[in-house]
Amino acid sequence: MVDTSNHATHSVVTLVPLPPRVRDIMICVAMESEASPIACALGLGEPRALRSMHPARVREGHVAGARIRLVTAGLDAATHVDRVGPIYAATTLLHALAIATDATRPDLVINMGTAGGFSAQHIGIGDLVVARHTMVHDARVALPGFDALSRAHTRLSLSTDMLASLAARLDATIGDVSTGSSLDASVEELKQFASAGTMAKDMELAALAMVARDEDVALASVKAITDLVDQPELASVSFLRNLQRACDRLGACAGPMIEVIAR
Ligand code: ADE
Repeated sequence: MVDTSNHATHSVVTLVPLPPRVRDIMICVAMESEASPIACALGLGEPRALRSMHPARVREGHVAGARIRLVTAGLDAATHVDRVGPIYAATTLLHALAIATDATRPDLVINMGTAGGFSAQHIGIGDLVVARHTMVHDARVALPGFDALSRAHTRLSLSTDMLASLAARLDATIGDVSTGSSLDASVEELKQFASAGTMAKDMELAALAMVARDEDVALASVKAITDLVDQPELASVSFLRNLQRACDRLGACAGPMIEVIAR
């Protein structure tokens, strides 16, 4: 499907819409600091390995009549840090979907996590952004067709009405989230974000959208802001200072988000 509404220069793939009844939700989160307040707020069980000898972890529970699985990519054995970034996000989701049976296939994948925000878009630290579109900002392949492929510009699954309901309930802003492999941003990328009106920048969402395209599964996302990409402070400094605050916000919005979506 091609959506030419407000991104006329790119081809935009629209994901499958939210099914009428959402009863099985897989929440994908990159970092343990992000996952832990969400698991606590939703009353999920202890983390267990998604599969024996695999680093990815899953916690399970039920909220508002929906089965919830919270999946994290787990820790890297060599560096002992969370396996963040687009590649681990995609491989972990694909793995989680591959081991699900027909009966345990999720109706919806929700990506929750932290992101950099843009003060030019009136976003502040601790704010929530509900994603409408996502794309890859650090892919440059100047070949016809391959450029659009590598940017993977995607309209996520929530309808305009559902985005508005969620934004109202969560006190969040609706906007486009751009994904790359770096925490910081180059001068060229800053220009790109400004002209595209990007609301937030992360390291997972577009990669999850690429998997959702292939797997025909609905995808939604909410991001909590730890740093302001278009301000002079180093992203890494602001990120560490505001991580707990942003993660607490994610935890607080998880239940209301599921209640709105699972109706
Ligand atoms: N997560 C939190 N802040 C981020 C940033 N500035 N870029 C990418 N991912 C982030």
